[in-house]
Amino acid sequence: MWFGKCQADGNWTGREYMPDMAHSQAYEAYTASPSTRAPKNVTTNITNYDTELFSNGMAARLPVAGTVARGNQPYLYSDDTTGYNRSAAMVNPFGNGNKQVLAEGKEMYNVYCAVCHGEKGLGGGSISTMNGGPFGGVPNYFGAAYIQMPEGKMFHSMHYGKNDMGSYASQLTKEERWKVVAYIKDMQAKNVQDGQGKSYEEALRYVRNQANPEPIIIDGFTIGESELDKLNDGKLVSGSIINLNNVFFSSGSANLSKASNIELDKLETILRANPDTKVELSGHTDSDGKPSSNLDLSNRRAKAAYNYLLLKGISAAQLTFKGYGDTSPVADNDSAEGKAKNRRTELKVL
Ligand code: HEC
Repeated sequence: MWFGKCQADGNWTGREYMPDMAHSQAYEAYTASPSTRAPKNVTTNITNYDTELFSNGMAARLPVAGTVARGNQPYLYSDDTTGYNRSAAMVNPFGNGNKQVLAEGKEMYNVYCAVCHGEKGLGGGSISTMNGGPFGGVPNYFGAAYIQMPEGKMFHSMHYGKNDMGSYASQLTKEERWKVVAYIKDMQAKNVQDGQGKSYEEALRYVRNQANPEPIIIDGFTIGESELDKLNDGKLVSGSIINLNNVFFSSGSANLSKASNIELDKLETILRANPDTKVELSGHTDSDGKPSSNLDLSNRRAKAAYNYLLLKGISAAQLTFKGYGDTSPVADNDSAEGKAKNRRTELKVL
């Protein structure tokens, strides 16, 4: 811009008027630190010197207060116990064991972390005290205190560092840190899988602290694990009997609780996937009360489940129902527990 500049030609630069309007104010990233700027014989009372990093008296100046680097999102949890505890609520966006993510996480882990934590996560890396190095107290990721450590806390400790462990906020981006956390959880899941014979998915849920989700309670009934989820490829094998343990009725009633819908809707899907299979819905009671009324109640309960599936559009050709009363117990009728087991709706594959 030639604002305020006149007669420039040849070797003559011309005159400048109002140069501060023509040129923006320069902000020197590297500038003499205050101590070298002040003449030797002048004492100053400046105390907030910029950091004096360089031997030639130059210092990197701090960014203006409140500036956020481009593309950087500030991390909001504070570097104290409150912030640490709150960080546990963060969910790893890369937590589900994606192979590409784990490969990247592993690479970064081996570069930045293995020197202390060891390639296998057992501790004892090349610069740890276990290996004659200076860094002590490196944990084993498979110990009780760490195996289910919330991923958010791991991220938090990588962000701020913890005791002998430094911060990785400047070496690894936020995404990269989450990928490293995913890799640690992968190592932990494999450890649990080997040790406890769980599937990888189950083990991963366990180490990510998702193994025991809040129970679902509907109508006062707690929905438990479903036998229908354990069928091999969703196949109904002729002759097998499956306990529909999430079909619920109130005491003495044959009205289905709406808590049963989850189980019966699952069954609907399975029946549609096995169109040539015929099934019987079998009702059973405990031994309390008269056998004849038990038989009647069990029959009406089996019919209620049958009707539900008919209304969902399952063909009557595929379905029958039958009440057995108290004639086919699976447990003793002397204890409350035994009785609860005997009161059940079963699926018999014909
Ligand atoms: C210089 C050695 C060293 C390096 C390198 C190192 N750590 Fe650590 N790490 C430690 C020590 C020591 C502790 C125990 C801190 C404590 O609880 O006092 C620790 C603790 C941890 C914890 C548990 C944190 C908590 O909240 O208790 C995690 C997770 C962890 N490190 C992950 C990493 C990851 C990921 C890297 C690489 C990006 C890494 N560490 C690099 C030494 C190191």
